Amino acid sequence: MTERIYNFSAGPAVLPLSVLEKAQSELLSLNGIGMSVMEVSHRSKHFAPVLESAINGIRELLRVPDNYKILFLQGGASLQFSMIPMNFLGAGEAADYVVTGAWGKKAVKEAKRCGTVNTIFSTADSGFKSVPMQDELTFSENAKYVHYTSNETIEGVEFKYDLDGKGLPVVCDASSNILSKPINVEKHALIYAGAQKNIGPSGVTLVIIRDDLIEQVPENQHSMLDYRALAENNSMLNTPNTWGIYLINLVCEHVKGHGGLAEMEKKNEEKAKILYDAIDASDGFYRGHADQRARSLMNVTYRLPSEELEKQFTSEATAQNLDGLKGHRSVGGIRASIYNAFPKEGVQALVEFMKDFAQKNG
Ligand SMILES: Cc1ncc(COP(=O)(O)O)c(C=O)c1O
Repeated sequence: MTERIYNFSAGPAVLPLSVLEKAQSELLSLNGIGMSVMEVSHRSKHFAPVLESAINGIRELLRVPDNYKILFLQGGASLQFSMIPMNFLGAGEAADYVVTGAWGKKAVKEAKRCGTVNTIFSTADSGFKSVPMQDELTFSENAKYVHYTSNETIEGVEFKYDLDGKGLPVVCDASSNILSKPINVEKHALIYAGAQKNIGPSGVTLVIIRDDLIEQVPENQHSMLDYRALAENNSMLNTPNTWGIYLINLVCEHVKGHGGLAEMEKKNEEKAKILYDAIDASDGFYRGHADQRARSLMNVTYRLPSEELEKQFTSEATAQNLDGLKGHRSVGGIRASIYNAFPKEGVQALVEFMKDFAQKNG
């Protein structure tokens, strides 16, 4: 087998090795049918069980109640920034947005095209280092929904609770921490996530949407932007990303076979602790970006004493097969993305490298 390296990419990100191997073994002939999953009709008897199993896998793992539909759409999480207001925020209406990072900011930009956006909480002025406590949030009386980003991938800040809308529909961008821990789906009206971090490859967006929200979709909506039409057609209004859905199904089976989301959370906490402890024990050589209580379990972001040292750090790390550590171009620094499929040994290898680097350059 070709040697695998430690891949800290923020997304598309590392997938479980056994999933890749299974996909490889079935690539030329799915279940002995003599065709790849990429070569059969999405409406065929070969693909139908794959889609059904992927939906059931997500439903089971996240304990999604029956009054929610599970959709596999296209256009990335970014299209959801637009689809949500296009369906639920009419002209003259308002929605509340909680902005804790770059992705939330982008969601606001798109929503403003449709109606009024009340940014009821933002950490922009302090550099997106924290998240609000639930009691710091006051919702607008006229809001149609409240939107938040449960994990901001670029800054590495994560909500440690499911936001309570106090009766207001809650919409969550969970792109970078979905399936990393159990969540209470029932607190949400709509959850969406690009697949390319914890669920599968890029090109599929998971949408979990409550039935009463689907009923609010405007009658004259464009079909491909219409949650009702997409739900009624079981994500097959047009040709879905069959390969992506197939891989999502394999990832769900893998996660189920490894203890489900409670076990994922335990492992993710262990991995993140190793890294944050190393940052905290470095006498200030490494400085974590996020406030302690908002530290992401998925994206660990930190700085070094200078940009030159950061450059040297990532290039020496890459040479040691620790890949993808360069922070997002908008914030710089280092970002270690350690999603579900990222192995603990890789975190330990990074920590060893960090200690050595600090000793030589501190
Ligand atoms: C939290 C979050 N939201 C949205 C996006 C955009 O996702 P996509 O590239 O699938 O449109 C990303 C991508 O990394 C993300 O991390």
